[in-house]
Amino acid sequence: RQAPPATVVIFGASGDLTRRKLIPAIESLARHNRLTERFAVVGVARTPMDDDQFIHAVLGDRGLSGMPQLAGAVRYISGGYDDPETYKRLATVLDELDHQRGTAGNRIFYLSTPAEAFPLVINGLAGAGLHQSREDSFARLVIEKPYGHNEASAKQLDATVHAAFDESQVFRIDHYLGKDTVQNVLALRFANAIFQPIWDRTWVDHVQITVAETLGVGTRGSFYEHAGAMRDIVQNHVLQVLALALMEPPASFSAEAVRNEKVKLLQAIRLPSGRAIDDIAVRGQYTRGGSRSELMAGYREEPGVDPLSRTETYAALRLDVDNWRWAGVPFYVRTGKRLPSRVTEVALQFQRPPHLPIPNRQLTELQPDALILRIQPDEGIALRFGAKVPGHSFRVRSASMDFSYDKTFREESPEAYERLLLDALIGDTTLFIRSDEVEQCWRIVDPILERWAEDTGPIPTYEAASWGPTEANRLIERSGRAWRNTVA
Ligand code: BG6
Repeated sequence: RQAPPATVVIFGASGDLTRRKLIPAIESLARHNRLTERFAVVGVARTPMDDDQFIHAVLGDRGLSGMPQLAGAVRYISGGYDDPETYKRLATVLDELDHQRGTAGNRIFYLSTPAEAFPLVINGLAGAGLHQSREDSFARLVIEKPYGHNEASAKQLDATVHAAFDESQVFRIDHYLGKDTVQNVLALRFANAIFQPIWDRTWVDHVQITVAETLGVGTRGSFYEHAGAMRDIVQNHVLQVLALALMEPPASFSAEAVRNEKVKLLQAIRLPSGRAIDDIAVRGQYTRGGSRSELMAGYREEPGVDPLSRTETYAALRLDVDNWRWAGVPFYVRTGKRLPSRVTEVALQFQRPPHLPIPNRQLTELQPDALILRIQPDEGIALRFGAKVPGHSFRVRSASMDFSYDKTFREESPEAYERLLLDALIGDTTLFIRSDEVEQCWRIVDPILERWAEDTGPIPTYEAASWGPTEANRLIERSGRAWRNTVA
Protein backbone atom coordinates (compact mmCIF):
# COMPACT_ATOMS: atom_id res chain seq x y z
CA ARG A 1 0.00 0.00 0.00
CA GLN A 2 1.44 3.33 -1.08
CA ALA A 3 -0.16 6.72 -0.64
CA PRO A 4 -1.28 8.52 -3.80
CA PRO A 5 0.20 11.98 -4.49
CA ALA A 6 -1.24 14.39 -1.91
CA THR A 7 -0.69 17.27 0.49
CA VAL A 8 -1.60 16.82 4.13
CA VAL A 9 -2.66 20.10 5.71
CA ILE A 10 -2.56 20.04 9.51
CA PHE A 11 -4.64 22.66 11.31
CA GLY A 12 -3.44 23.15 14.86
CA ALA A 13 0.06 22.33 13.67
CA SER A 14 1.80 23.93 16.64
CA GLY A 15 -0.05 21.60 19.03
CA ASP A 16 1.14 18.60 20.91
CA LEU A 17 -0.51 15.98 18.71
CA THR A 18 1.35 17.16 15.61
CA ARG A 19 4.74 16.78 17.25
CA ARG A 20 3.99 13.60 19.22
CA LYS A 21 1.89 11.63 16.73
CA LEU A 22 1.23 13.11 13.30
CA ILE A 23 4.74 14.05 12.20
CA PRO A 24 6.25 10.79 13.55
CA ALA A 25 3.51 8.93 11.64
CA ILE A 26 4.49 10.75 8.44
CA GLU A 27 8.18 10.02 9.12
CA SER A 28 7.46 6.37 9.58
CA LEU A 29 5.35 6.21 6.41
CA ALA A 30 8.23 7.84 4.53
CA ARG A 31 10.75 5.41 6.03
CA HIS A 32 8.65 2.44 4.98
CA ASN A 33 8.29 3.79 1.45
CA ARG A 34 4.60 4.39 1.78
CA LEU A 35 5.04 7.96 0.51
CA THR A 36 6.43 9.05 -2.81
CA GLU A 37 8.17 12.32 -3.59
CA ARG A 38 4.81 13.60 -4.72
CA PHE A 39 3.86 14.39 -1.16
CA ALA A 40 3.86 17.54 0.96
CA VAL A 41 2.88 18.73 4.40
CA VAL A 42 1.48 22.14 5.29
CA GLY A 43 1.13 23.18 8.92
CA VAL A 44 -1.41 25.86 9.79
CA ALA A 45 -1.67 27.49 13.22
CA ARG A 46 -1.81 30.85 14.91
CA THR A 47 1.76 30.86 16.25
CA PRO A 48 3.98 32.99 13.98
CA MET A 49 6.80 30.83 12.55
CA ASP A 50 8.52 30.33 9.20
CA ASP A 51 8.91 26.98 7.47
CA ASP A 52 12.28 26.20 9.10
CA GLN A 53 11.09 27.12 12.57
CA PHE A 54 8.08 24.88 12.08
CA ILE A 55 10.27 21.99 10.96
CA HIS A 56 12.43 22.51 14.02
CA ALA A 57 9.40 22.79 16.32
CA VAL A 58 7.91 19.48 15.21
CA LEU A 59 11.02 17.50 14.31
CA GLY A 60 13.67 18.93 16.63
CA ASP A 61 17.32 18.53 15.65
CA ARG A 62 16.65 15.51 13.46
CA GLY A 63 14.92 17.82 10.97
CA LEU A 64 13.97 16.12 7.73
CA SER A 65 16.89 13.67 7.85
CA GLY A 66 14.50 10.73 8.25
CA MET A 67 12.48 11.71 5.18
CA PRO A 68 14.80 13.26 2.61
CA GLN A 69 12.08 12.89 -0.04
CA LEU A 70 10.21 15.67 1.80
CA ALA A 71 12.99 18.27 1.54
CA GLY A 72 11.32 21.48 0.39
CA ALA A 73 7.92 19.91 0.85
CA VAL A 74 7.12 21.03 4.40
CA ARG A 75 5.51 24.44 4.64
CA TYR A 76 3.94 26.51 7.38
CA ILE A 77 1.21 29.15 7.35
CA SER A 78 0.41 31.24 10.40
CA GLY A 79 -2.99 32.85 10.59
CA GLY A 80 -6.30 33.04 12.39
CA TYR A 81 -8.76 30.22 11.77
CA ASP A 82 -11.53 32.76 11.28
CA ASP A 83 -9.53 34.89 8.83
CA PRO A 84 -10.37 34.32 5.13
CA GLU A 85 -6.79 35.47 4.31
CA THR A 86 -5.43 32.32 5.97
CA TYR A 87 -7.34 30.16 3.50
CA LYS A 88 -6.39 32.30 0.52
CA ARG A 89 -2.74 31.90 1.40
CA LEU A 90 -3.29 28.20 1.93
CA ALA A 91 -4.88 27.90 -1.51
CA THR A 92 -1.85 29.62 -3.05
CA VAL A 93 0.62 27.35 -1.24
CA LEU A 94 -1.38 24.26 -2.25
CA ASP A 95 -1.30 25.33 -5.91
CA GLU A 96 2.45 25.93 -5.68
CA LEU A 97 2.98 22.49 -4.21
CA ASP A 98 0.85 20.92 -6.94
CA HIS A 99 3.19 22.46 -9.49
CA GLN A 100 6.48 21.93 -7.67
CA ARG A 101 5.81 18.53 -6.15
CA GLY A 102 3.15 17.02 -8.38
CA THR A 103 0.69 16.56 -5.52
CA ALA A 104 -2.07 16.48 -8.12
CA GLY A 105 -4.62 18.61 -6.31
CA ASN A 106 -5.21 15.89 -3.70
CA ARG A 107 -5.66 17.28 -0.19
CA ILE A 108 -6.18 15.93 3.28
CA PHE A 109 -7.30 18.59 5.76
CA TYR A 110 -6.46 17.35 9.22
CA LEU A 111 -8.30 19.14 12.05
CA SER A 112 -6.21 18.95 15.18
CA THR A 113 -7.17 22.33 16.65
CA PRO A 114 -9.19 22.79 19.83
CA ALA A 115 -12.75 21.69 19.03
CA GLU A 116 -14.09 25.29 19.12
CA ALA A 117 -12.12 25.99 15.96
CA PHE A 118 -13.52 23.05 13.93
CA PRO A 119 -16.48 25.02 12.47
CA LEU A 120 -14.22 28.02 11.71
CA VAL A 121 -11.79 25.87 9.74
CA ILE A 122 -14.55 24.01 7.89
CA ASN A 123 -16.24 27.27 6.91
CA GLY A 124 -12.87 28.80 6.00
CA LEU A 125 -12.03 25.88 3.70
CA ALA A 126 -15.45 26.06 2.07
CA GLY A 127 -15.15 29.84 1.69
CA ALA A 128 -11.96 29.37 -0.32
CA GLY A 129 -13.48 26.54 -2.36
CA LEU A 130 -10.98 24.04 -0.95
CA HIS A 131 -13.62 21.57 0.20
CA GLN A 132 -14.52 20.11 -3.16
CA SER A 133 -13.40 16.75 -4.41
CA ARG A 134 -13.11 16.85 -8.19
CA GLU A 135 -13.30 14.09 -10.72
CA ASP A 136 -9.51 13.73 -10.80
CA SER A 137 -8.55 14.88 -7.31
CA PHE A 138 -9.80 14.55 -3.75
CA ALA A 139 -10.36 16.79 -0.74
CA ARG A 140 -10.82 14.92 2.55
CA LEU A 141 -11.48 16.09 6.07
CA VAL A 142 -9.92 14.25 8.99
CA ILE A 143 -11.35 15.28 12.37
CA GLU A 144 -9.86 14.60 15.77
CA LYS A 145 -12.02 14.16 18.83
CA PRO A 146 -13.90 15.48 20.66
CA TYR A 147 -16.68 15.26 18.11
CA GLY A 148 -19.19 17.38 19.97
CA HIS A 149 -19.81 17.65 23.67
CA ASN A 150 -23.09 15.75 23.60
CA GLU A 151 -25.54 14.45 21.00
CA ALA A 152 -26.97 17.88 20.20
CA SER A 153 -23.60 19.56 19.65
CA ALA A 154 -22.34 16.58 17.63
CA LYS A 155 -25.36 16.96 15.34
CA GLN A 156 -24.67 20.66 15.07
CA LEU A 157 -21.06 19.97 14.10
CA ASP A 158 -22.29 17.40 11.58
CA ALA A 159 -24.55 20.02 10.03
CA THR A 160 -21.53 22.33 9.58
CA VAL A 161 -19.42 19.49 8.18
CA HIS A 162 -22.13 18.30 5.80
CA ALA A 163 -22.81 21.81 4.53
CA ALA A 164 -19.35 21.66 2.95
CA PHE A 165 -18.27 18.01 2.78
CA ASP A 166 -20.02 14.87 1.71
CA GLU A 167 -19.96 12.11 4.37
CA SER A 168 -17.71 10.06 2.08
CA GLN A 169 -15.06 12.81 2.40
CA VAL A 170 -15.15 12.74 6.22
CA PHE A 171 -12.74 10.71 8.36
CA ARG A 172 -13.54 10.96 12.09
CA ILE A 173 -10.60 9.65 14.07
CA ASP A 174 -10.68 7.28 16.99
CA HIS A 175 -7.07 6.26 17.30
CA TYR A 176 -8.03 3.00 19.06
CA LEU A 177 -9.35 1.72 15.73
CA GLY A 178 -5.85 2.14 14.29
CA LYS A 179 -4.36 -0.24 16.84
CA ASP A 180 -3.50 -3.65 15.40
CA THR A 181 -4.83 -5.41 18.46
CA VAL A 182 -8.20 -3.69 18.18
CA GLN A 183 -8.41 -4.89 14.58
CA ASN A 184 -7.41 -8.31 15.87
CA VAL A 185 -10.80 -8.48 17.58
CA LEU A 186 -12.19 -8.74 14.05
CA ALA A 187 -9.58 -11.29 12.99
CA LEU A 188 -10.17 -13.48 16.02
CA ARG A 189 -13.93 -13.39 15.69
CA PHE A 190 -14.40 -13.60 11.95
CA ALA A 191 -11.37 -15.43 10.59
CA ASN A 192 -11.94 -18.40 12.89
CA ALA A 193 -14.95 -20.66 13.08
CA ILE A 194 -14.20 -22.05 16.53
CA PHE A 195 -15.08 -18.95 18.54
CA GLN A 196 -18.28 -18.03 16.78
CA PRO A 197 -20.49 -20.72 18.39
CA ILE A 198 -19.51 -19.70 21.92
CA TRP A 199 -19.76 -15.95 21.30
CA ASP A 200 -23.24 -15.48 22.72
CA ARG A 201 -25.58 -15.67 25.69
CA THR A 202 -25.54 -19.46 25.76
CA TRP A 203 -21.88 -19.55 26.77
CA VAL A 204 -20.84 -16.10 27.86
CA ASP A 205 -21.69 -15.19 31.45
CA HIS A 206 -20.56 -11.57 31.15
CA VAL A 207 -17.94 -9.40 29.50
CA GLN A 208 -15.54 -6.90 31.06
CA ILE A 209 -13.87 -4.16 29.08
CA THR A 210 -11.12 -2.27 30.87
CA VAL A 211 -9.17 0.77 29.73
CA ALA A 212 -6.90 1.51 32.69
CA GLU A 213 -4.20 4.16 32.67
CA THR A 214 -1.51 4.81 35.26
CA LEU A 215 -0.99 8.39 34.15
CA GLY A 216 -2.88 11.30 35.66
CA VAL A 217 -4.11 14.22 33.60
CA GLY A 218 -0.61 15.71 33.50
CA THR A 219 -0.56 19.05 31.73
CA ARG A 220 -3.98 18.55 30.13
CA GLY A 221 -5.95 19.62 33.21
CA SER A 222 -7.80 22.52 31.64
CA PHE A 223 -8.85 20.38 28.65
CA TYR A 224 -9.77 17.41 30.81
CA GLU A 225 -11.94 19.50 33.13
CA HIS A 226 -14.47 19.78 30.27
CA ALA A 227 -14.09 16.20 29.16
CA GLY A 228 -13.84 13.71 32.03
CA ALA A 229 -13.49 9.96 31.61
CA MET A 230 -16.89 9.55 29.96
CA ARG A 231 -16.25 11.97 27.12
CA ASP A 232 -12.52 11.32 26.86
CA ILE A 233 -12.56 7.51 26.76
CA VAL A 234 -15.99 5.88 27.12
CA GLN A 235 -17.85 7.79 24.39
CA ASN A 236 -15.23 6.81 21.82
CA HIS A 237 -12.55 4.22 22.63
CA VAL A 238 -14.57 2.00 24.97
CA LEU A 239 -17.74 1.96 22.88
CA GLN A 240 -15.78 1.33 19.69
CA VAL A 241 -13.99 -1.66 21.18
CA LEU A 242 -17.29 -2.89 22.62
CA ALA A 243 -19.04 -2.55 19.27
CA LEU A 244 -16.35 -4.57 17.47
CA ALA A 245 -16.41 -7.25 20.14
CA LEU A 246 -20.19 -7.67 20.22
CA MET A 247 -21.49 -6.83 16.75
CA GLU A 248 -22.88 -9.39 14.32
CA PRO A 249 -20.56 -10.76 11.62
CA PRO A 250 -20.45 -8.32 8.69
CA ALA A 251 -20.89 -9.80 5.22
CA SER A 252 -17.62 -8.18 4.16
CA PHE A 253 -14.92 -5.97 5.62
CA SER A 254 -16.04 -3.05 3.48
CA ALA A 255 -16.36 0.24 5.33
CA GLU A 256 -20.13 0.34 5.13
CA ALA A 257 -20.68 -3.31 6.04
CA VAL A 258 -18.54 -3.04 9.19
CA ARG A 259 -19.95 0.30 10.23
CA ASN A 260 -23.54 -0.85 9.68
CA GLU A 261 -23.01 -3.71 12.12
CA LYS A 262 -21.40 -1.43 14.70
CA VAL A 263 -24.32 0.99 14.51
CA LYS A 264 -26.85 -1.84 14.89
CA LEU A 265 -25.07 -3.04 18.00
CA LEU A 266 -24.85 0.44 19.53
CA GLN A 267 -28.54 0.98 18.81
CA ALA A 268 -29.35 -2.15 20.81
CA ILE A 269 -27.71 -0.87 24.00
CA ARG A 270 -30.42 -0.28 26.56
CA LEU A 271 -30.14 2.28 29.33
CA PRO A 272 -32.40 2.98 32.26
CA SER A 273 -33.47 6.56 32.88
CA GLY A 274 -33.51 9.02 35.78
CA ARG A 275 -32.32 7.77 39.16
CA ALA A 276 -32.13 4.18 37.94
CA ILE A 277 -28.94 5.26 36.18
CA ASP A 278 -27.26 5.21 39.59
CA ASP A 279 -27.58 1.41 39.50
CA ILE A 280 -25.58 1.09 36.31
CA ALA A 281 -23.09 3.95 36.36
CA VAL A 282 -20.40 4.91 38.84
CA ARG A 283 -17.92 7.75 38.60
CA GLY A 284 -14.87 8.57 40.66
CA GLN A 285 -12.10 11.11 41.03
CA TYR A 286 -8.58 10.32 42.16
CA THR A 287 -7.19 11.83 45.32
CA ARG A 288 -3.59 11.99 46.47
CA GLY A 289 -2.04 8.56 46.72
CA GLY A 290 0.70 6.18 45.72
CA SER A 291 3.69 5.04 47.73
CA ARG A 292 6.00 7.07 49.90
CA SER A 293 8.62 7.03 47.18
CA GLU A 294 6.14 8.09 44.56
CA LEU A 295 3.45 10.26 46.03
CA MET A 296 0.99 11.38 43.39
CA ALA A 297 -1.12 14.53 43.48
CA GLY A 298 -4.88 14.32 43.63
CA TYR A 299 -6.87 15.37 40.57
CA ARG A 300 -8.03 18.60 42.22
CA GLU A 301 -4.38 19.54 42.83
CA GLU A 302 -3.34 19.11 39.19
CA PRO A 303 -2.47 22.24 37.19
CA GLY A 304 -5.43 23.72 35.34
CA VAL A 305 -7.96 21.86 37.50
CA ASP A 306 -10.60 23.58 39.63
CA PRO A 307 -9.87 22.80 43.32
CA LEU A 308 -13.58 21.98 43.68
CA SER A 309 -13.79 20.11 40.39
CA ARG A 310 -16.52 17.50 39.92
CA THR A 311 -15.01 16.06 36.75
CA GLU A 312 -14.80 12.27 36.79
CA THR A 313 -11.43 10.63 36.19
CA TYR A 314 -12.97 7.17 36.50
CA ALA A 315 -16.16 5.66 35.15
CA ALA A 316 -17.64 2.18 35.41
CA LEU A 317 -20.86 1.11 33.72
CA ARG A 318 -23.05 -1.89 33.32
CA LEU A 319 -24.53 -1.99 29.85
CA ASP A 320 -27.14 -4.37 28.48
CA VAL A 321 -27.60 -5.20 24.84
CA ASP A 322 -31.14 -5.94 23.75
CA ASN A 323 -30.72 -8.45 20.95
CA TRP A 324 -30.92 -12.20 20.38
CA ARG A 325 -27.22 -12.78 20.82
CA TRP A 326 -26.76 -10.93 24.09
CA ALA A 327 -30.08 -10.70 25.94
CA GLY A 328 -29.42 -11.17 29.66
CA VAL A 329 -25.62 -10.86 29.44
CA PRO A 330 -24.24 -7.85 31.34
CA PHE A 331 -21.33 -5.86 29.95
CA TYR A 332 -19.17 -4.17 32.52
CA VAL A 333 -16.87 -1.44 31.29
CA ARG A 334 -14.48 0.72 33.28
CA THR A 335 -11.83 3.27 32.61
CA GLY A 336 -9.76 5.53 34.78
CA LYS A 337 -6.67 7.58 35.17
CA ARG A 338 -4.17 6.87 37.96
CA LEU A 339 -5.08 3.22 38.28
CA PRO A 340 -2.40 0.76 39.43
CA SER A 341 -1.51 -0.59 35.99
CA ARG A 342 -1.89 0.27 32.35
CA VAL A 343 -4.11 -2.30 30.70
CA THR A 344 -6.67 -2.31 27.93
CA GLU A 345 -8.48 -5.61 27.50
CA VAL A 346 -11.72 -7.31 26.62
CA ALA A 347 -12.46 -10.33 28.79
CA LEU A 348 -15.26 -12.76 28.04
CA GLN A 349 -16.06 -14.80 31.08
CA PHE A 350 -17.83 -18.04 30.32
CA GLN A 351 -20.52 -19.87 32.26
CA ARG A 352 -19.59 -22.50 34.79
CA PRO A 353 -20.22 -26.06 33.61
CA PRO A 354 -23.82 -27.13 34.34
CA HIS A 355 -22.62 -29.70 36.84
CA LEU A 356 -19.20 -29.98 38.49
CA PRO A 357 -18.22 -33.52 39.42
CA ILE A 358 -15.63 -32.22 41.89
CA PRO A 359 -16.09 -31.11 45.49
CA ASN A 360 -17.32 -27.59 46.00
CA ARG A 361 -14.42 -26.48 48.15
CA GLN A 362 -12.12 -26.78 45.16
CA LEU A 363 -14.11 -24.20 43.30
CA THR A 364 -12.16 -21.44 45.00
CA GLU A 365 -9.10 -22.56 43.05
CA LEU A 366 -10.99 -22.68 39.82
CA GLN A 367 -11.86 -19.44 38.11
CA PRO A 368 -14.54 -19.54 35.45
CA ASP A 369 -13.18 -20.05 31.93
CA ALA A 370 -12.29 -16.82 30.18
CA LEU A 371 -11.00 -15.52 26.89
CA ILE A 372 -8.96 -12.37 27.33
CA LEU A 373 -8.07 -10.12 24.44
CA ARG A 374 -5.18 -7.97 25.60
CA ILE A 375 -5.14 -4.82 23.53
CA GLN A 376 -2.21 -3.21 25.34
CA PRO A 377 0.40 -3.65 26.70
CA ASP A 378 1.59 -7.32 26.38
CA GLU A 379 -0.57 -7.52 23.27
CA GLY A 380 -2.04 -10.99 22.90
CA ILE A 381 -4.82 -13.39 23.77
CA ALA A 382 -5.18 -15.70 26.74
CA LEU A 383 -7.59 -18.56 27.24
CA ARG A 384 -8.14 -19.49 30.85
CA PHE A 385 -9.49 -22.91 31.72
CA GLY A 386 -9.37 -25.48 34.53
CA ALA A 387 -6.63 -28.14 34.56
CA LYS A 388 -5.83 -31.00 36.90
CA VAL A 389 -3.21 -30.19 39.50
CA PRO A 390 -0.46 -32.85 39.44
CA GLY A 391 -0.72 -35.25 42.37
CA HIS A 392 -2.77 -38.07 43.84
CA SER A 393 -5.89 -36.10 44.59
CA PHE A 394 -8.19 -34.82 41.88
CA ARG A 395 -7.86 -31.08 42.16
CA VAL A 396 -8.56 -28.60 39.42
CA ARG A 397 -6.94 -25.22 39.17
CA SER A 398 -7.05 -22.42 36.60
CA ALA A 399 -4.41 -22.52 33.90
CA SER A 400 -3.91 -20.37 30.83
CA MET A 401 -2.91 -20.71 27.19
CA ASP A 402 -1.19 -17.58 26.04
CA PHE A 403 -0.63 -16.07 22.65
CA SER A 404 1.75 -13.14 22.56
CA TYR A 405 2.08 -10.87 19.55
CA ASP A 406 5.73 -10.23 20.23
CA LYS A 407 6.72 -13.85 20.46
CA THR A 408 4.63 -15.07 17.54
CA PHE A 409 5.15 -12.40 14.92
CA ARG A 410 8.38 -10.74 13.96
CA GLU A 411 6.65 -7.96 12.08
CA GLU A 412 6.52 -4.61 13.76
CA SER A 413 3.05 -3.07 14.33
CA PRO A 414 2.55 0.33 12.76
CA GLU A 415 1.53 3.07 15.16
CA ALA A 416 -2.20 3.76 15.18
CA TYR A 417 -1.77 7.20 13.62
CA GLU A 418 0.44 5.87 10.85
CA ARG A 419 -2.15 3.34 9.88
CA LEU A 420 -5.02 5.84 9.99
CA LEU A 421 -3.19 8.51 8.04
CA LEU A 422 -2.38 6.04 5.29
CA ASP A 423 -6.01 4.86 5.23
CA ALA A 424 -7.18 8.47 4.88
CA LEU A 425 -4.70 9.02 2.03
CA ILE A 426 -5.88 5.88 0.31
CA GLY A 427 -9.51 6.74 0.99
CA ASP A 428 -10.49 3.76 3.15
CA THR A 429 -13.06 4.82 5.77
CA THR A 430 -13.44 1.43 7.50
CA LEU A 431 -11.49 2.46 10.59
CA PHE A 432 -13.12 5.88 10.91
CA ILE A 433 -16.33 6.72 12.70
CA ARG A 434 -19.43 7.36 10.66
CA SER A 435 -21.81 10.15 11.57
CA ASP A 436 -24.55 7.80 12.87
CA GLU A 437 -22.04 5.99 15.11
CA VAL A 438 -21.07 9.22 16.81
CA GLU A 439 -24.72 9.95 17.43
CA GLN A 440 -25.34 6.52 18.95
CA CYS A 441 -22.33 6.83 21.24
CA TRP A 442 -23.58 10.14 22.58
CA ARG A 443 -27.08 8.68 22.98
CA ILE A 444 -25.57 6.17 25.40
CA VAL A 445 -23.32 8.58 27.27
CA ASP A 446 -25.55 11.67 27.52
CA PRO A 447 -28.19 10.43 30.00
CA ILE A 448 -25.45 9.28 32.37
CA LEU A 449 -23.67 12.63 32.22
CA GLU A 450 -26.99 14.42 32.71
CA ARG A 451 -27.78 12.33 35.77
CA TRP A 452 -24.35 13.06 37.22
CA ALA A 453 -24.73 16.76 36.52
CA GLU A 454 -27.96 16.92 38.53
CA ASP A 455 -26.59 14.84 41.41
CA THR A 456 -25.09 17.32 43.83
CA GLY A 457 -23.86 14.77 46.38
CA PRO A 458 -20.14 14.28 46.91
CA ILE A 459 -18.39 12.61 44.00
CA PRO A 460 -16.89 9.21 44.92
CA THR A 461 -13.11 9.24 45.20
CA TYR A 462 -10.27 6.73 44.97
CA GLU A 463 -6.66 7.09 45.92
CA ALA A 464 -4.19 7.48 43.07
CA ALA A 465 -2.78 4.04 42.19
CA SER A 466 -5.84 2.16 43.46
CA TRP A 467 -8.49 0.35 41.39
CA GLY A 468 -11.21 3.00 41.54
CA PRO A 469 -13.92 3.87 44.08
CA THR A 470 -15.52 1.15 46.21
CA GLU A 471 -18.84 2.08 44.59
CA ALA A 472 -17.51 0.46 41.40
CA ASN A 473 -17.03 -2.84 43.22
CA ARG A 474 -20.59 -2.65 44.43
CA LEU A 475 -21.77 -2.03 40.88
CA ILE A 476 -20.47 -5.39 39.71
CA GLU A 477 -20.94 -7.29 42.97
CA ARG A 478 -24.66 -6.54 42.82
CA SER A 479 -24.93 -9.32 40.24
CA GLY A 480 -22.58 -11.65 42.14
CA ARG A 481 -19.56 -10.93 39.92
CA ALA A 482 -16.20 -9.24 40.46
CA TRP A 483 -13.74 -7.12 38.49
CA ARG A 484 -10.69 -8.87 37.13
CA ASN A 485 -7.16 -8.01 38.31
CA THR A 486 -8.18 -5.60 40.97
CA VAL A 487 -5.28 -6.52 43.21
CA ALA A 488 -2.58 -3.89 42.75
C1 BG6 B 1 -6.80 9.79 24.31
C2 BG6 B 1 -7.27 10.46 25.55
O1 BG6 B 1 -7.83 9.75 23.34
O2 BG6 B 1 -6.41 8.46 24.61
C3 BG6 B 1 -6.20 10.43 26.61
O3 BG6 B 1 -7.62 11.80 25.26
C4 BG6 B 1 -5.72 9.03 26.84
O4 BG6 B 1 -6.67 10.99 27.84
C5 BG6 B 1 -5.35 8.36 25.52
O5 BG6 B 1 -4.60 9.07 27.71
C6 BG6 B 1 -5.02 6.89 25.71
O6 BG6 B 1 -4.52 6.39 24.51
P1 BG6 B 1 -3.53 5.15 24.48
O7 BG6 B 1 -3.30 4.92 23.03
O8 BG6 B 1 -2.31 5.57 25.22
O9 BG6 B 1 -4.26 4.05 25.17
